Amino acid sequence: DESARLAEFEARIAAGETIEPKDWMPERYRKQLVRMMSQHAHSEIVGMLPEGNWITRAPSLRRKMSLIAKVQDEAGHGLYIYCGTETLGVDRAELVAELLSGKAKYSSIFNYPTLTWADIGVIGWFVDGAAIVNQTVLAKTSYGPYARAMIRICKEENFHKRQGFEIVATLAAGTPAQREMVQDAVNRWWWPTLMMFGPSDKDSPNSGELLRWRVKRFTNDELRQRFVNLTVPQAQAVNVSLPDPELRYDAASESWVFGQIDWDEFWRVVKGDGPCNRERLAARNKAHDEGAWVRAAAEAYAAKRDSRRDA
Ligand code: 3HC
Repeated sequence: DESARLAEFEARIAAGETIEPKDWMPERYRKQLVRMMSQHAHSEIVGMLPEGNWITRAPSLRRKMSLIAKVQDEAGHGLYIYCGTETLGVDRAELVAELLSGKAKYSSIFNYPTLTWADIGVIGWFVDGAAIVNQTVLAKTSYGPYARAMIRICKEENFHKRQGFEIVATLAAGTPAQREMVQDAVNRWWWPTLMMFGPSDKDSPNSGELLRWRVKRFTNDELRQRFVNLTVPQAQAVNVSLPDPELRYDAASESWVFGQIDWDEFWRVVKGDGPCNRERLAARNKAHDEGAWVRAAAEAYAAKRDSRRDA
């Protein structure tokens, strides 16, 4: 009966076993994974927009090629994670419809504008850096398809972070105007990047369940702190400052203590009122509408091929 199956499931999780699509799982576990994985996939797809904005304006062919490669990777990550989500019995068309209608969440970070070329470097360094911290841990999540997707995605994220940090290092060592441009980008992207890790643990309704079922292996605050500890020395290495006057090293905890996050801004952006939320959804809807003919053609081709096979 249900309680025996739940006990068996919990024992499997506690033993560190991986749950596969055909295994029994509590409906709540499945729902949590659909929620988390679909929002992750949506984030990858929407994340292409702020970066794509600079492909036609990259300062050199080399920069343009690596930006094109990165944006293509994000598309692949999105499709890959939609595939993983579909192993839980949902249809990606439903998930995409939820995104297009504004019902589904995606990462708050992609609702900020990319105002200068330096933003592309800082996004690679901060946003993909944060994604690496989050996704290397998710590679050990208890749901098999998600964990395996993360292993492949993390390899590409490392290229994303490296190309971003190279842009930042180049600008930071450049002319005074370039130094000013990259410092301005750092000032604008630092706090929104810390918000990527989610609300503080005391305000995280999903963490308890996700930690118990080893979907999450660390809390939001633990991963946020890990990111800060990693990134502060990198900022020092390229001689850019971080926009937090309270940032200081605490030898006892061997951690960088940082200031208060503006949670009002976080919830405003999550609830749809960030700088670019409407623009991002409009762009996604426009792309979806303009792509309708491709979907129709693919369906017509599939129908013709099936009828030939049945003939
Ligand atoms: N943006 C938007 N919504 C957010 C958010 C953020 N940064 N952080 C939290 N939320 C939402 C949650 O979805 C939840 O709402 P819901 O219950 O309606 O879904 C609510 O705020 C409360 O947050 P919780 O902490 O309870 O939610 P989680 O336990 O799910 O933690 C998370 C949030 C840390 C983002 C977790 O879901 C997670 O690790 N997801 C997988 C990774 C992911 O989605 N990363 C997004 C960035 S993708 C990316 O970086 C691409 C790279 O190529 C740049």
